[in-house]
Amino acid sequence: MAFAVEPAVSDLKSDYDREGWCKIPHRFDDDTIGLLRERIDSICSRRRPEVVYEKDGETVRAVHGCHAFDDVCAALVRHPQLVSLAEALLGGPVYVYQFKVNLKQAHEGAAWPWHQDFAFWSEEDGMPRPDAVNIAVSLDDVHEDNGPLVVIPGSHTLGLLDLPAMADKDDRNGWKQHVSADLTYTVTGSRAESLAREHGKVLITGRAGSLHAFHPSIVHSSSNNLSADRRALLLITYNAVANAPAHPMRPKFLVERDATATTPSSDGRLRLVPDASPSDS
Ligand code: SIN
Ligand code: MN
Repeated sequence: MAFAVEPAVSDLKSDYDREGWCKIPHRFDDDTIGLLRERIDSICSRRRPEVVYEKDGETVRAVHGCHAFDDVCAALVRHPQLVSLAEALLGGPVYVYQFKVNLKQAHEGAAWPWHQDFAFWSEEDGMPRPDAVNIAVSLDDVHEDNGPLVVIPGSHTLGLLDLPAMADKDDRNGWKQHVSADLTYTVTGSRAESLAREHGKVLITGRAGSLHAFHPSIVHSSSNNLSADRRALLLITYNAVANAPAHPMRPKFLVERDATATTPSSDGRLRLVPDASPSDS
């Protein structure tokens, strides 16, 4: 199945350009999500550098770069419809800049403060422009109580906000603070509240398998997961081939060095189905 009808893609692009996010009218089916969950759970059960823990040192917070060593994740980033969507939103060839799964475990999963992803990519890696896109795949049902992603529509047009002067770019271990609950580049709570009063907020909810795209400069956050339901969110960041970072120093599992365009390739294990549900509020 393809995003066959060109007007649908151009509608998505105009929503995305205006709002800084959009819901994709397809989702991965239950078998596909089952397979992805199995792979991610197995990776998370091992101690390896790509796995990041919550402050308790035991609960897995996130896992990075799985597409480099797991064949299902590798197939996912080459999924023809995902690659063509990213190419359509960015207007040219793309490669995978980053791949991560934020686990947001039941009861234990900690918040992500308000921030803009492009602050990290531009300040730390030297990404020239925010010509990248995050494609989010929900691996669990996401509802308002298990810490959904919250975005402020339109905030991607405002440039970078509230950048601190203090980040130590020569700190080789500084990347750990970009993946923990204490982020280096945040948007202040008061700024986010005032933006939200002006622009509103959208909770990115929906059933497992749902797909959304969001812009590197959109202001977003998510709260602690106080519920009994895990909220795992898989995020693929595609970057425009012409927008490779100037000085990537963080580990390769956070910043891909090879900007060769991703070649799409179908894999029968990864199936999209139409998803018409109006899921966000
Ligand atoms: C989250 O998983 O809720 C946060 C994702 C992000 O900041 O990119
Ligand atoms: Mn983010």
